[in-house]
Amino acid sequence: MTTEVITSKTPEYKVNGYLIEEMISEKVLHQRIVGLAEQIYKDYRGKDLVLVCILNGAESFFNSLKKELGRGNPFANREPMSIPEGYFGVSSYGAGHESSGNIKVTVPLNIDIKDKDALIIEDIIDSGNTVHLTRPLLLAEKPKSLEYCVLLDKAENRKVKENVKYTGFVIPNKYVVGFGLDDGGNFRNLPYVGIVKEKPPVHPPLP
Ligand code: IMP
Ligand code: MG
Repeated sequence: MTTEVITSKTPEYKVNGYLIEEMISEKVLHQRIVGLAEQIYKDYRGKDLVLVCILNGAESFFNSLKKELGRGNPFANREPMSIPEGYFGVSSYGAGHESSGNIKVTVPLNIDIKDKDALIIEDIIDSGNTVHLTRPLLLAEKPKSLEYCVLLDKAENRKVKENVKYTGFVIPNKYVVGFGLDDGGNFRNLPYVGIVKEKPPVHPPLP
């Protein structure tokens, strides 16, 4: 994947012919994830915490957050935490960018959360359907507590009333890619969150 910086104001990157405008830089993502780790440490210290990553989109966020929790921070008196982890795969979107209102379990939950304090790590809450529909499936496993931690929140697009305990960033109602989020399977590996500004022409321009 070729990535070149085009401008230094709001950074824009040419990625496989697409123009991606950066919305949240790698550095700002990291700083916020450190902040979330501080909050999670304070709230879950001494509890029976397990982390569950919602596949596929939350993987990058999950990987950063769990490492931050494992690193600790001596300056903030935050001790490193060892936390069991598992995965739960769901797909919520059919064609296009609109939520279908249904989810399909693609990977069954692979960790026992019974009597544990389960914290579900999700990339983004948009309509709220995914949180709304996964919550009863996970509650059926009888955790002691069940909460969600989402990196991004498109609060203005909420269709179902759902609250999450932790939110990284509230963002405008725009389709975003990068840091785990995809568009048709692309861009998950970008280290920042951005918006697709221009797509490559389907056909090369005629001479
Ligand atoms: P919801 O069910 O509408 O709340 O949407 C949640 C799911 O839709 C997320 O887990 C993402 O997989 C996907 N999603 C929602 N908005 C975006 C976006 O802007 N970019 C990429 N995926 C998105
Ligand atoms: Mg997701």
